Amino acid sequence: MSTATEEKEEIEFIIAFIYERSRIRLHDGKEALIRARLGKRMRLLGIPTLRDYCRFLRSAEGQEEVQSAIDALTTNYTHFLREESHFDFLIKTALPALLAKGQRRFNVWSAACATGEEPYTLGMYLAEHFPLAEGWDWRLTATDISTKALATAGQGIYSEERMRHVPEAWIRRHFQRGHGRWEGHYRVKPALAGRITFRQLNLLEAYQHAEPFEVIFCRNVMIYFDRPTQEQLVTRMARFLVPRGYLLIGHSESLNGLDVPVRCLRPSIYQAS
Ligand SMILES: C[S@@+](CC[C@H](N)C(=O)[O-])C[C@H]1O[C@@H](n2cnc3c(N)ncnc32)[C@H](O)[C@@H]1O
Repeated sequence: MSTATEEKEEIEFIIAFIYERSRIRLHDGKEALIRARLGKRMRLLGIPTLRDYCRFLRSAEGQEEVQSAIDALTTNYTHFLREESHFDFLIKTALPALLAKGQRRFNVWSAACATGEEPYTLGMYLAEHFPLAEGWDWRLTATDISTKALATAGQGIYSEERMRHVPEAWIRRHFQRGHGRWEGHYRVKPALAGRITFRQLNLLEAYQHAEPFEVIFCRNVMIYFDRPTQEQLVTRMARFLVPRGYLLIGHSESLNGLDVPVRCLRPSIYQAS
């Protein structure tokens, strides 16, 4: 039986451990969330106490479990067409400004893509406004730290309920309706899915991209990091923007007061020099 002090120590260990591996800050108030989410993992693994689970995470055999713990503790909430004004800005302002000299090829990065709704939304907007049939050539890179979220994203299958923000005409053009056991589900068509490369990437570790991006969406992830970590993340990310490229963050996030190489055009929209 663990004492209250031991239990507190275990929660503190989890908070520090997740911070060290992902730079995600799970504040003390998140204790109930930590218990509930790791409780599921423990039941699955047959581990009786949080103390044993912490021991497992520290052990050599527990190293694979580290990713599952991160997956369980990160919040992957997202939906199609979320914070829609960003997509309008992308197609009406950002891309026309950057592509003014006749450039037909460009890249967009969805940097914390969760279960894929954000990159597929980007793909639908681009397909509608920059059709490949008219000579446009664009690619999307979509990354996340969570392998579980990425597996869903890569599959590209969504329930009817999750499709509720997508206009009917877009569903017809970009999705296949499921039959039989897939009744009530929709799968992204290969023409759209084929423009998107999904891969695991921790925004706080060193990473590379083969080509720079005209626009980066890094939305609703910064909120989990402390200010020095945000500064580091944006500085690193800005290196992968073309000159005058755009960085879009979540509506409730801000880079105010951070020393970063992008300037604010309007709330949540930034531009590299
Ligand atoms: C709330 S979701 C946001 C999804 C989408 N961008 C949106 O705005 O709807 C946050 C995502 O950030 C991811 N994430 C958290 N820490 C990360 C890190 N260090 N590197 C990359 N992705 C991370 C989580 O796995 C989660 O999928």
